[in-house]
Amino acid sequence: MTASVDPIQLMKQEVAKAAAARVHSGSIVGLGSGSTAALMIQYLGDRLQSGELKDIKGVPTSFQSSVLAKQYGIPLVTLDEIEYIDIAIDGADEVDPQHNLIKGGGAAHTREKIVDALAKEFIVVVDSSKLVDRLGTTFKLPVEVIPMAITPVARAIEKLGGKPELRMGVKKAGPVITDQGNMVLDVKFDSIDNPAEMEKTINNIPGVLENGLFVGLTDLVLVGEVKDGQPIV
Ligand code: 5RP
Repeated sequence: MTASVDPIQLMKQEVAKAAAARVHSGSIVGLGSGSTAALMIQYLGDRLQSGELKDIKGVPTSFQSSVLAKQYGIPLVTLDEIEYIDIAIDGADEVDPQHNLIKGGGAAHTREKIVDALAKEFIVVVDSSKLVDRLGTTFKLPVEVIPMAITPVARAIEKLGGKPELRMGVKKAGPVITDQGNMVLDVKFDSIDNPAEMEKTINNIPGVLENGLFVGLTDLVLVGEVKDGQPIV
């Protein structure tokens, strides 16, 4: 019996490999978070191991990506030790036609935005299911909130027309806690017509650390698709 391979997983593998192939020796690389970025970190590790790639340093965007980088032999640096990031590669939850993003499905958007925004080249790796005409259609907007402010922030978001939900962890035993020790509100908006304005408006609410709108940061989107049963980028 042949095991069936999930086409989404195949697409993720292909884009992750294509993105990892764009990293040059000597580069400082922003290491994204999520399942697609995790594959990309693994492929970078493979290239280091084979000797095809040399002397790269990684800047992790989450605890998850720092653990993976260590596992695959990628030396890490902090932002205090470097002056720039050559290339950052990260996943996304939604991508609009202008290549603005919603990120934060893994609650890592605060560190991701810091690292991705510092990169000279920011590459987004997604499968085709992430492409949308308008942000907010399929995915709720993640907002990282300092715990003491969760109630006033939720009320302020409702006044903006959003429906906030506290993100709960596995088995709903308690709220998801970010790498910074904060909580996440996932906010449903009927539509996000002006992502740039919405990004600033939400970040202006006292108690909000960062939201998952990434506007005007993306340099390249690599999209995985399945054509004639084969994954392509
Ligand atoms: C984490 C993120 C991820 O990059 C995003 O959720 C995409 O993840 P995946 O590649 O698993 O679909 O923003 O905060």
